[in-house]
Amino acid sequence: MGKVLNGKELAERLNSELKNKINLDYQRTGIKPKLAAILVGDDPASKLYITIKRKTCAEIGIDSTLVKLNRECTKAELFTKISELNNDTTVHGIILQLPLPVKFKPFTLEFIEKIDPLKDVDGLHPINKGKLFDYNEEIVPATPKGIITLLEYYNVELKGKHVVIINRSNLVGKPLIFMFLKRNATVTVCHTSTSDLENHIKKADILVVAIGQPDFITKDKIKEGVVIIDVGTSRVNGKTRGDVNFEEVLGTCSWITPNPGGVGPMTVSFLLQNTYNAYKRQISE
Ligand SMILES: NC(=O)c1ccc[n+]([C@@H]2O[C@H](COP(=O)([O-])OP(=O)(O)OC[C@H]3O[C@@H](n4cnc5c(N)ncnc54)[C@H](OP(=O)(O)O)[C@@H]3O)[C@@H](O)[C@H]2O)c1
Repeated sequence: MGKVLNGKELAERLNSELKNKINLDYQRTGIKPKLAAILVGDDPASKLYITIKRKTCAEIGIDSTLVKLNRECTKAELFTKISELNNDTTVHGIILQLPLPVKFKPFTLEFIEKIDPLKDVDGLHPINKGKLFDYNEEIVPATPKGIITLLEYYNVELKGKHVVIINRSNLVGKPLIFMFLKRNATVTVCHTSTSDLENHIKKADILVVAIGQPDFITKDKIKEGVVIIDVGTSRVNGKTRGDVNFEEVLGTCSWITPNPGGVGPMTVSFLLQNTYNAYKRQISE
């Protein structure tokens, strides 16, 4: 019977420890960490994600501000806004909520490059991505950081294991490649053009699925004893579903993240942690 990698429980513990650290730093310096979230347009999912992030910030003592630009704004206006936040010494972390509206999508990297790497709490600036290439995990995206922390917290052996990641995005799959390699795992990365995906899945000791397709992973597809990290999220009948049929695979896997309650809360927790780390690097005590 698979054991549960309880991300919700661990995230609550980490958030509570972080809250204490922030409180002590605030008492000593009189400065609170502050996160600025930039939202371009009015995509409902993006609005919801930002609301959740800001709510959790408030709960643990991180100030936050929402910078809203309407979808008719120009490239220059967005560049100016990012520069203003870079120069604002009261702001320690900046997130540009993705995806951007269609007209800005081709310029996403240009906008991210404009963010001060020290304030890039999403870990997407080329300088931070480059550091990870050298196994430097000073600033890495929150989801992969949350996944690795969860596995290490539960002492899941990574060394020598065959990790299969179904996702090659900048926020999930690509950072995980380097983080698993650093821990001496062997990594296979799959995507929509992978031939014989089922064969790769069957060989995984650790399977990370992040595709946003409910119940994609079923009992017949996996190897006995596999560790499953279910990252993908979809809404089905008003409820959040992962990429894995949890009930079906539970008897076959050795460990599994519930979804919701696994990777999601760890992601939010490490966004806060990244913001705190950015604050610590920027305040002069
Ligand atoms: N819980 C959390 O905290 C959290 C955090 C981040 C993301 N997520 C969820 O994780 C999922 C992925 O997010 P993302 O931002 O990485 O999305 P994304 O940029 O769209 O990436 C999806 C990846 O999955 C691959 N893929 C999609 N369908 C596939 C299939 N049928 N077979 C094989 N590969 C397939 C894509 O391949 P190609 O590259 O070939 O297109 C791509 O690499 C979403 O459901 C998102 O909501 C959850």
